Amino acid sequence: VTALPVPPTPPDAAPGILAELRSRTHDLHVAAERSGILNALLRGTAPRAGYLLLLRNLAPVYRALEDGLARHGGTAALAPLAACRLDRATAIAADLRALGGPHWEHALPLLPEGESYARRVAEAAAGDGFRLVAHAYTRYLGDLSGGQILRRLLGDSLGLQAGELHFYDFSGIAGAAQIKRDYRAMLEQAGQAASDRAALVEEAAAAFSHNIALSEAVQAAL
Ligand code: HEM
Repeated sequence: VTALPVPPTPPDAAPGILAELRSRTHDLHVAAERSGILNALLRGTAPRAGYLLLLRNLAPVYRALEDGLARHGGTAALAPLAACRLDRATAIAADLRALGGPHWEHALPLLPEGESYARRVAEAAAGDGFRLVAHAYTRYLGDLSGGQILRRLLGDSLGLQAGELHFYDFSGIAGAAQIKRDYRAMLEQAGQAASDRAALVEEAAAAFSHNIALSEAVQAAL
């Protein structure tokens, strides 16, 4: 009896970029859930003002991310992500208007941690922009995962209404699970084409650290 032949290792057996991103940010994800305002939101103890301040400080982050992706719409590796248009900046501005009034941009402070996170994203958009993949991964997959949990909690504990929760509503595009599957495939493709995979993975770790710093700063500002 001859042994079954061992299939040859395919030349492209390197772990996918998503697997790398997930393992590099695993501990940071745990830390983010336990940090500042995010922890309070999960426990249902955050005041409305806390959620509002977090949202106000995420607004420029998404603007930088979405401006950056739009600028790279003609870059082969980033074109699918740019075309996907999960854009949250408009949804966030609508929520902020509903929750904080028309002058939210001036009425609610931009914290140094929000400013520096947005600056980091804008810097990632420089050059060939491949580091934007890390920021798209961190925010959009987060919004499609934990964001969907937060959405329920914000409704239950803070009484937020649908008109104040556009941020987590992707229904104009597709169901969250479907988008997540499709978006993961696009991130994988964009990551494979990235000029420097190690830098991309470290950029995701930095993105998580910015989220933790912002979450702590929002809680401290209350
Ligand atoms: C507020 C508390 C949070 C909760 C309850 C939460 C919950 C979750 C859950 C349940 C998943 C797994 C989804 C799945 O595997 O299908 C997930 C994935 C993810 N979350 Fe969070 N999350 C939170 C905060 C965050 C934050 C602050 C970020 C970053 C800004 C983030 C980014 C991500 C990413 C990128 C993934 C995808 C991981 C991967 O599969 O590679 N999450 N989250």
